[in-house]
Amino acid sequence: MCGIVGYLGKSRAAPILLEGLRKLEYRGYDSAGIATIESTGDLRVERSVGKLRDFEATLPLDELDGLVGIGHTRWATHGKPDKANAHPHIDSSQSVAVVHNGIIENHRDLRRELTNLGHNFRSQTDTEVIAQLIEHYLHNDVPLHDAVRTCLNRLEGTYAVAVLSRHAPKEIIVGRHASPLVIGVGNEETLVASDVPAMLQHTKNFIVMQDGEMARLTNNHIDLITLEGEPILREAEEHPWDADMAEKGGFTHFMQKEIYEQPRAIADTIGERTTTLSSRFTLDELSEIDGKLSGINRAIILACGTSWHAGLVGKYYLEEIAGIPTEVDYGSEHQYRKALVDNNCLIIPISQSGETFDTLAAMRAAARGGGPVVAICNVLGSTMAREADAVVFTRAGLEIGVAATKTFSSVLAVLYLVATHLGALRTSISSEECSTLISNINKAPTLLEQALKQESTLESLADKFHNVLDFLYIGRGINYPIALEGALKLKEISYIHAEGYPAGEMKHGPIALITDEMPVIALAPQDDVYEKMLSNIEEAKTRDGLVIAIGFEGDSVLEGQADHFVPMPNCPRLLTPIVLSIPVQILAYHIAVQRGCDVDQPRNLAKTVTVE
Ligand code: F6R
Repeated sequence: MCGIVGYLGKSRAAPILLEGLRKLEYRGYDSAGIATIESTGDLRVERSVGKLRDFEATLPLDELDGLVGIGHTRWATHGKPDKANAHPHIDSSQSVAVVHNGIIENHRDLRRELTNLGHNFRSQTDTEVIAQLIEHYLHNDVPLHDAVRTCLNRLEGTYAVAVLSRHAPKEIIVGRHASPLVIGVGNEETLVASDVPAMLQHTKNFIVMQDGEMARLTNNHIDLITLEGEPILREAEEHPWDADMAEKGGFTHFMQKEIYEQPRAIADTIGERTTTLSSRFTLDELSEIDGKLSGINRAIILACGTSWHAGLVGKYYLEEIAGIPTEVDYGSEHQYRKALVDNNCLIIPISQSGETFDTLAAMRAAARGGGPVVAICNVLGSTMAREADAVVFTRAGLEIGVAATKTFSSVLAVLYLVATHLGALRTSISSEECSTLISNINKAPTLLEQALKQESTLESLADKFHNVLDFLYIGRGINYPIALEGALKLKEISYIHAEGYPAGEMKHGPIALITDEMPVIALAPQDDVYEKMLSNIEEAKTRDGLVIAIGFEGDSVLEGQADHFVPMPNCPRLLTPIVLSIPVQILAYHIAVQRGCDVDQPRNLAKTVTVE
């Protein structure tokens, strides 16, 4: 987590660093800071605890005239979120400044060694050892990049770092190991950041750094080398995202904007992939590994959080459409168990960011079994995308709200397409079934437009229930994962306790929780388990439960049974999880807004979890 940014060019660095940090704040917001080399040649460091707006309020921006600088927004790991632990960190002689994303595992040993050598530590962070260690190597005629390279070779753990020094006032040295870092190549200006959006105002051309690489950046030159000092040749590539994506576009919050973008996100995700429909649907991204895919006899999906919930829906798609037995595992659990994954097992890691530490670790562990790895992610050039055998990208565009919305439904659409590809490949579906599946998914954007029309109903429910202490979400079959996802959305942005449960399991324990003070959100489209859901709702009602039912429009039975009813457009069963994502997201959004919560930046969270 944490976001880092750097700039060298013709303009004053400080405002550009602030703008970049604004785009990276989703990565952490415990504290923020910048360091610049001023026209006097001095290294100037400014930082403060709290969100970026708190930092900006204290920053004497007009005083800062340097054309070179680095910045940081923090999600605290080592050292509590206070000013002393805010980045940039500096060495004892105050000539080197460092911003860092990751965890230095041998920081205690290095701190002890450097303290014995007379270095004076001011923070509790692991990062400060980097600044002090560079100072240690930066003596006599050693150039900054050599001192940084020697330092990086001594670090264990994960890092993306940017280093600034008054000894080399026209350069920034950067390095990457297991935390993302991208170089932006502009016109007489060079940028670097944890993620592309921080640089889109200045360039669309990027070099994605890889593990074990470092670079010496000036305003018009990039020397990319290995940690052994060997040169690397890599051209910049143009990125399809543009700067407008990082704006709210008239919405109050990014989350709200992203909820409303879902018809477009799904249309882009399925768009060109399904227009060339013939009786045998093929995903071009997978055709090169079709040989390997036809030999698999099972699949394992690996993911965390919301992506894990998407994976649970994916299990239904893969089993039902492609006939492939599928297991879904948490990234954080999979890597520490003796999972039996052989070369006949298809591995599907899912990650919006493509950088989630636990999902990457699980993917690497599973890949050792020799099976094909087909990743699903939203970020081009991400670590997951680079390491997988094949990638099917969601085309949701940049997602800034910490709570995943449009990327969740887009992943569901991709899982549906992957299952259809595999079903066609393995002939577990006929060509007619394949055509029906594809023509159905093409209806999803319109269905989502209709679902969004229920915002005012959901807003008034939020008005009624935003002060309750607990919520229960229930669903069955393919919509049980949406109950989990609805509960997670509510918890993370409104801080209300919520549980998602398979409705049929209620009577094995959780039904004891039901009172008229705990609303039950029941997901009950008219599908294969509809009658069962009606019985489960009745069980809740009999115990004075207060039921908010989400089902198909015109369903008078459900409407009559529930206390409140949210109508959704009637749709094919396999599309119901995609459609029902919308009301659970909107309800969570409005409850959080009415509780006065910071919807886009919920407490304690960061969007991209690059630490274990
Ligand atoms: C919740 C949320 C998280 C992420 C999780 C994995 O709204 O966004 O639960 O889903 O941190 O992130 P990715 O998908 O980037 O691997």
